[in-house]
Amino acid sequence: MRSILFASFLYITIITASAQNKAVFTVQADKPAAEISSTMWGIFFEDINQGADGGLYAELVKNRSFEFDNPLMGWKITSSTFQWGINFGSEITVINQKEKEATNPRFLRVSMDKIQKGKLGISNEGFHGMGIKKDLRYDFSVLYRQPTSNAIIHIELVNEKGDIIGSNILKPNQTGNNWYKAETSFIANGTEAKANLNIWFEGSGQLDLDMISLFPSDTWKGRKGGLRADMVQMLADIKPGFIRFPGGCIVEGRDLSTRYQWKKTIGPVEERKLMINRWNTEIKDRPAPDYYQSFGLGFYEYFQMAEDIGAAPLPILSCGIACQFNTGELAAISDLDPYLQDALDLIEFANGSPKTKWGKIRADLGHPTPFNLKMIGVGNENWGSQYIDRLKIFQAAIAKKYPTIKLVCSSGFMASGDVFNYLNGELRKMKISFIDEHYYSSPKWFLDNAKRYDSYDRKSSSKVFVGEYAAQSVATTDMNNKNNWRTALAEAAFLTGLERNADIVQMASYAPLFGHIEGWQWKPDLIWVNNLKSMGTPNYYVQKLYGTNRGNYTVPILYKNQQPAAGEDSLYATTAIDKESNELIIKIVNTLGKNQTAEININGASKIGASAKWTILQNNNLEAENSLTNTLELVPVETNTALKGNQLVLDLKPYSLNILRVKL
Ligand code: AHR
Repeated sequence: MRSILFASFLYITIITASAQNKAVFTVQADKPAAEISSTMWGIFFEDINQGADGGLYAELVKNRSFEFDNPLMGWKITSSTFQWGINFGSEITVINQKEKEATNPRFLRVSMDKIQKGKLGISNEGFHGMGIKKDLRYDFSVLYRQPTSNAIIHIELVNEKGDIIGSNILKPNQTGNNWYKAETSFIANGTEAKANLNIWFEGSGQLDLDMISLFPSDTWKGRKGGLRADMVQMLADIKPGFIRFPGGCIVEGRDLSTRYQWKKTIGPVEERKLMINRWNTEIKDRPAPDYYQSFGLGFYEYFQMAEDIGAAPLPILSCGIACQFNTGELAAISDLDPYLQDALDLIEFANGSPKTKWGKIRADLGHPTPFNLKMIGVGNENWGSQYIDRLKIFQAAIAKKYPTIKLVCSSGFMASGDVFNYLNGELRKMKISFIDEHYYSSPKWFLDNAKRYDSYDRKSSSKVFVGEYAAQSVATTDMNNKNNWRTALAEAAFLTGLERNADIVQMASYAPLFGHIEGWQWKPDLIWVNNLKSMGTPNYYVQKLYGTNRGNYTVPILYKNQQPAAGEDSLYATTAIDKESNELIIKIVNTLGKNQTAEININGASKIGASAKWTILQNNNLEAENSLTNTLELVPVETNTALKGNQLVLDLKPYSLNILRVKL
């Protein structure tokens, strides 16, 4: 009898304990809460970390137009003529015509005196080498000018060992005082991440060369002179709602003269004036003396890419204040016109009919239909009353000419403190459509701030654009920051709070986007690349899971029948409904290093599917990272789980992001 009593006591104790330990959620599927904007999850592109030149822009030749401050940076002259006295008359010089030609004043002059192949040439090192793929076609082109026709150009791609892995011969045949373009293609017979391009000259006479270029043929959509397909594909896979470009601090410039000027980035590439990249010297521990902006990826290409990947374009322009971390130079209010005009003309460029001046320029570039621009950013991380004074002028002028265009404005470089409070207050008074908040903080900050927007002013017409954020494993701009699971999991948890507050937060983007494994200045970054491939970090997969599981409106998910879970028992949750597929999308993040049993009761839906698609991103080790060379530690895994009536019982793994899709 005693043993029966003891056994039933034990049984009751176990049942009660497990009921207590179970994390019980209640979804109210019939209570639409907030509409989720189609722009909710987007991307932020800046030419930092070799993001454009040497990254997304597929040009393999560095300093192709000899316009770097050091005109031969990236090039080597390979000449045996001077050293050995053979063909002494042959030489290679750089000519600068800046009095006549301001945009692309320099070119190379090759003077040949019966030179033979292998005696006089140039070699380009690419961007930390050139990524070359076996059996792929490479397109070489050059602008040339020669009084008589005689020269032969030998093109060779060599691997790190010096073996030739692709070659061709080009005979420029036009003569006279004009510049011509010569092109040729060849197939590579080897794969190499760090190839160099050698060019040998043969013949006699004078040959002028400029815009020496080599592109792979497998660019995004096969566009000549286009973008690296693997990198664009990574972006497309996120299904981004918007793309913000071209930055970041490069929008503002170190001083006003080095601000990003979109009009100088469209049209023929040889007429796009090259400029030093701000990240060239910005980070003291990672100097990048060869970091320039060729603008081969310019504003037309940005709009085109946005359209290709189905993302709403969000260009950001200078407001007339240079980066306040640098010179903070101001354009006087009376001199603001060119800045203002740039913004107005950009809207016409994007949306105007081909009968307008800038609409015609767009049409002539190949896009007669508008790009459907709906919003524009003025100022990146600007602050102070000078910013507000200038913004008011932009706001009035843009609203007058384009009343439906929404303005995106900065609330500074931190999302708290005096700078933020002042701007946040002023921008709301001005009824600015989107206030751009930036935070680079610790994983703990992200976990602690999952409720940040629960208490935001819901009466204000201004919405939030979380324009730049990333959990920092060490500290902002620290060279040892990592894209580990600790940071990504904290972001995943934090994003539940953005989705739950989708009536307030309507856009969010991780920053920075790309990091080249050798050419980076800032860590962490969403996607890491080398010269041949790209790799999604754990943070990338979090973004991708949110982007591909967006839903159209939120419905409440209560924890223990009370609040939404935003940290209680280390759990974070949000729920949305996808109208098109008629699915309930539940996101639960378990930040505890142990399994947790979750019971989810779905109320308010008359019919529910018998099973749910369950996607899990998980690792027991918070320090785990993905790598370009090894198997990925963190990738989403898909499975299915059965429902019991309207109930899901899940064993949530330690440190996991779980996404469930249930048919309604
Ligand atoms: O994302 C890197 C930099 O961080 C951006 O250029 C700037 O806006 C922010 O300070």
